[in-house]
Amino acid sequence: MLESAIPEHLRCTRTRAARLPSAGFQPPYPSYSVRFPKHASELVMAIIGAQYPSAADADGAAQSTLSGFLTSPANNSPSFFEWASVTDNRGCYNLSALAYWPSKAAYEAWFEHSGFGAWWQALRLEDCQHGWFLEIFFPVMERFETLFNTTNTPEGSAHMGDGMSGEVQEHGYWGSMRDRLPASQTDGLTGSPATAQDFNNAPQSSGTGGVRVKIKGKKNLAVIRSGQDWLDTSPEERQLYLETMHPVLIKGMDFLRDHGDEVGCYSCRFMEIIDPVTRKADKDRTFGLAYFDDIGSLERWCKEHPTHLAIFGGFHRYARKLGNNVTLRVFHEVMVLEPEQQVFEYVACHNGTGMLGTAREE
Ligand code: HEM
Repeated sequence: MLESAIPEHLRCTRTRAARLPSAGFQPPYPSYSVRFPKHASELVMAIIGAQYPSAADADGAAQSTLSGFLTSPANNSPSFFEWASVTDNRGCYNLSALAYWPSKAAYEAWFEHSGFGAWWQALRLEDCQHGWFLEIFFPVMERFETLFNTTNTPEGSAHMGDGMSGEVQEHGYWGSMRDRLPASQTDGLTGSPATAQDFNNAPQSSGTGGVRVKIKGKKNLAVIRSGQDWLDTSPEERQLYLETMHPVLIKGMDFLRDHGDEVGCYSCRFMEIIDPVTRKADKDRTFGLAYFDDIGSLERWCKEHPTHLAIFGGFHRYARKLGNNVTLRVFHEVMVLEPEQQVFEYVACHNGTGMLGTAREE
């Protein structure tokens, strides 16, 4: 029996038609959404990172500074956090904590009581040996959706959930991401189109010694974290994944990173989950983290770009063949944010970092 991805308490009379192909639509394979406590009205996802000229420069100091704050005995430590890294197209190594809190109030209490807030605000450009960045999202539940192909391994925000839904109806067709967002029942969620300026306009800086910049949030910015985990795959499935999907995925992520201006993507990082101690990417888990000017731009990229089409088609064939025996785990979290639900701050980062390209002279 299928259920709606939108929990009952967030359902309302639609003023905007769903994309669901028909009322009795049966998706070709099962998928699930996280169920959060009914009283949860929002959550917080933070990307807190350090940027080094190269991986060899990462000496562990930034990580231990951030770890100290994230594990501080003060109340309101994150409900969950983990480490990930990416070498970007300038050759810089970016190491980030991805941390989740169940509410803005919990995040703000941590910011204050852990000492992180005071430390962050006191960070002086001239003392920085490398860049730092802070990207924080405060989605309300109406503007947040998740999709998982399995129920046994929580990822990200699922660590704060009550559990997983049963099989949901709204997936397996283009536009289903939008249908799973409660706000889309009554709101077109239109963003403001990125312009060429947004990709060229950052205050000039290169690595260390750059600038400290706060970026304003964008109307209906669409954020996706789309994860892959092949740890428990059988040898055949692992081979299938690593030979047929992973290389195509890398091409797709490189395209968004290097040519995002063509499709409304401000930033894309294809990140590897790393071991917190060795900083090695030996976890068989990756994710794409991308920021789009509009959910429509994200929809278009995934249904039109040959890389995602190839992965999507491959996954469908794969899931049809293996049914409930698929052991490759994929999930995503998507949010569409009001300007005040976004924080972007960059200290001594190069001008291609995150949303920094959109900086404007005030
Ligand atoms: C949807 C596969 C990576 C963006 C989907 C769907 C599949 C899929 C099967 C349809 C899900 C459903 O509705 O049942 C994959 C696989 C990936 C991957 C196997 C990696 C191996 C990514 C990445 C991004 C992305 C990295 C973006 C950063 C999307 C979006 C949708 C989607 C936005 C929703 C489309 C819509 O509902 O209109 N993907 N994907 N995917 N994927 Fe991916």
